[in-house]
Amino acid sequence: MSSTTDGIAAGSHAPGGAAPRLDADAVRADFPVLARRLAGDRPLVYLDSGATAQKPQVVIDAESSFYETLNAAVHRGAHQLADEATQLYEAARETVAGFVGAQPDEIVWTKNATEGLNLVAYSFINATAGRGGRAAQRFALSAGDEIVVTEAEHHANLVPWQEVAAHTGATLRWLTLTEDGRIDPASLDIVTDRTRIVAFTHAQNVTGAVTDVAPIVARAKEVGAYTVLDACQSVPHLPVDLGALGVDFAAFSSHKMLGPTGVGALYGRRELLADLPPFLTGGSMVEVVTMESTTFMPPPARFEAGSQMIAQVVGMAKAAEYLTTLGMDAVAAHEAEIAALLLDAVRSVPGVRLLGPDTTDSRLATVAFDVDGVHPHDVGQVLDARGVAVRVGHHCAQPIHRHFGVHASTRASAGPYTTPDDVAAFAAALAEVRPFFGLEA
Ligand code: ALA
Repeated sequence: MSSTTDGIAAGSHAPGGAAPRLDADAVRADFPVLARRLAGDRPLVYLDSGATAQKPQVVIDAESSFYETLNAAVHRGAHQLADEATQLYEAARETVAGFVGAQPDEIVWTKNATEGLNLVAYSFINATAGRGGRAAQRFALSAGDEIVVTEAEHHANLVPWQEVAAHTGATLRWLTLTEDGRIDPASLDIVTDRTRIVAFTHAQNVTGAVTDVAPIVARAKEVGAYTVLDACQSVPHLPVDLGALGVDFAAFSSHKMLGPTGVGALYGRRELLADLPPFLTGGSMVEVVTMESTTFMPPPARFEAGSQMIAQVVGMAKAAEYLTTLGMDAVAAHEAEIAALLLDAVRSVPGVRLLGPDTTDSRLATVAFDVDGVHPHDVGQVLDARGVAVRVGHHCAQPIHRHFGVHASTRASAGPYTTPDDVAAFAAALAEVRPFFGLEA
């Protein structure tokens, strides 16, 4: 299969109605940066998509074409360029909403997933402080209320909830993990009628473990708690239908799903967004402003204060279109094959311990590991010298590292453009790490 004329390598269907297959070599050709050679003229092996994904030419073109052909502020101009920009901005909302099974007015543009999660968290703080009037009182918390998170969260879905607890007097509790780092369903009994919020990850950013959302949502609904899903690692790699998952809120970012940096989205069920008090305030989110007070627009505008990142929104929608053309089933199936290869690679090297589930079931092609006797930063340097880019450190998720008894790890994470050749180069480089430091191979 080759790239289509608009630069998108479309997923093709295997004979006999089998799952669509993705041609990763053709996909790779859509990503200009992947043509780079480095580390002594070696091909770039990019295995850091969990931190940020590379961008296809169509996304780069969508962003630059916005600046080249219309560039105007949205929802605040009476001229043609402003109209066109506003139409593109709102069409992008429709595209991204469709991509995740939401309605357009359930999608709020944010700077990134972290801002989306903070928006929800600070809404609980603001409602507790009496902001947002009577409607917002459903979000007010008090001492005795409990917020449940999990030990699997990266800091963006943990620290904001610690802040909510500190501001409101609510108590923070957490679901614990199984030995291989999955959210332990047995710990769900801490969700009780005191629980007001259950915030949890859809796909863990260190281990790649994919959460079984249904029992958590069912338990939260039983006790009348709001659910907040951190979907920033799942939306880029799996077909995700937020409406069908039944969560109340979810956050994801563009830059992890092949789109530009500087934009993300918060999903909120329509009737909940309608009652949320504003988070950031200023222009574009107001109805009537006097010197004493202000009335606010309905959502999603209520949550989009100030000039917006329009070119990035347009680029994010193009990324969603690109992924849709590939087919998210095909992306997921391809990445499951890459996950199996990454796991084989990590298992095959002596002195390397996998952190996370040792299976391709319910997991992403995100594989973290510990190399005995070598600090992750040193592992990263040896790999980098061979053209292999991975992430090292605690990956903004210190608690799950503590669970595994380490401070930091090395993580290889794939995208739709990752090929078996990438994994072979990674495996060869990984095998050289311990010998490089004089340790037994
Ligand atoms: N973006 C962070 C990561 O690399 C959290 O997983």
